[in-house]
Amino acid sequence: MAGGAARARDSGGRIREGPEGHQGAAVQDHTVLFVDDEVNILKALQRLLRHEPIQVLAASTPADAFDLIDRYEPQVVVSDQRMPQMSGVDFLSSVRDRHGDVVRMMLTGYTDMTIAVEAINKGEIYRLITKPWNDDELKATLRQAFDHYDLKAEIKRLNQVTREQNFKLQDMNKNLEEKVRERTKQLDGKNQELRTAYIQTIRALAEAIDAKDAYTRGHSERVAVYSSRIARQLSLRKDMIERVYFAGLLHDVGKIGIPDAIITKPDRLDDLEYAEIMRHPEIGAKILEPVEFLRSVVPCVRHHHEWYDGCSRGYPDRLAGDQIPLPSRVIVVADTVEAMTSDRPYRKALPLEAVTRELHKFSGTQFDPVVVQAFLKLLEQEGDSFISKDQKFDIYAFIEG
Ligand SMILES: [Fe+2]
Repeated sequence: MAGGAARARDSGGRIREGPEGHQGAAVQDHTVLFVDDEVNILKALQRLLRHEPIQVLAASTPADAFDLIDRYEPQVVVSDQRMPQMSGVDFLSSVRDRHGDVVRMMLTGYTDMTIAVEAINKGEIYRLITKPWNDDELKATLRQAFDHYDLKAEIKRLNQVTREQNFKLQDMNKNLEEKVRERTKQLDGKNQELRTAYIQTIRALAEAIDAKDAYTRGHSERVAVYSSRIARQLSLRKDMIERVYFAGLLHDVGKIGIPDAIITKPDRLDDLEYAEIMRHPEIGAKILEPVEFLRSVVPCVRHHHEWYDGCSRGYPDRLAGDQIPLPSRVIVVADTVEAMTSDRPYRKALPLEAVTRELHKFSGTQFDPVVVQAFLKLLEQEGDSFISKDQKFDIYAFIEG
């Protein structure tokens, strides 16, 4: 036997053979199994395909055929229709159920044609080969069957590759999203740490300013608290409230550059000394300008002594109305309230009635009437407790909340 195939034959001429390929070929890519109860037909088919680059299997019963399919996994199975044990249609139907990828064909005489055509229509088989066959046509049909199998296998493989790549992509996407989330969280954390460090620095700076004078201890923090509460009363955006708070804390930072003798002088300042004091908003702005985080606070500090009506008593730029940053307009009210309700070397803390009188008096000239209204509303709701000295505005909770 060519190909060294095992071969067994029983008394009824039953044939069951392993591989039979073209001479010298150790491995063929393609394998066909012929199933026919007539041994002569099987032999004729093997002879016909001896020189083709395909492995040929032959079985004379469906049972042997299944055994060979399991062992050699042919791509194409060609079955006779009329067999004593089982019809070709039923056999190929079973092949379809058990090995869905195998291309099934039927080899049949003209008398079985109706059944065979029905089998094709039902999708049981791929092609029909008629007996007696034309050698070239049979070879061509076999080649087409293998091509058909290869094409389907390639489509299946590509689908599998696509599916796997999709899974990989989904996985990568998921990983990427997780990485981005993780990095964002880390950055948020770092950002938060930086902000906390900045806030602590600002506080220290504000405390250093207030510490120059025993009478102004805690002034900046209280102005920041009052300002941010007025800002909330005005329903400002969160980032604006934050800006108002920092500007409130830092509004007098420029006093660092003013001689202590002037700042702590208990008596009225002379004109020169007053001129010196008037420089503190500009000095403050200059100190803060290089700090990126405080860039938006700089103009608020620079303009916290402007007058709302733009008159000459405001400084340094005599801005008016909306030209003055809103945080500055808030701070000037808070600053006045804090100063009036605190003891000074030359007077005791004034009562709230005196403060409201002052605010009414200068509403529209020194102060923005809208800010004055917001403050008065707060006083209405809270009375004296609004100016209690120990109140705090938890900026950390506010920023994180
Ligand atoms: Fe000031």
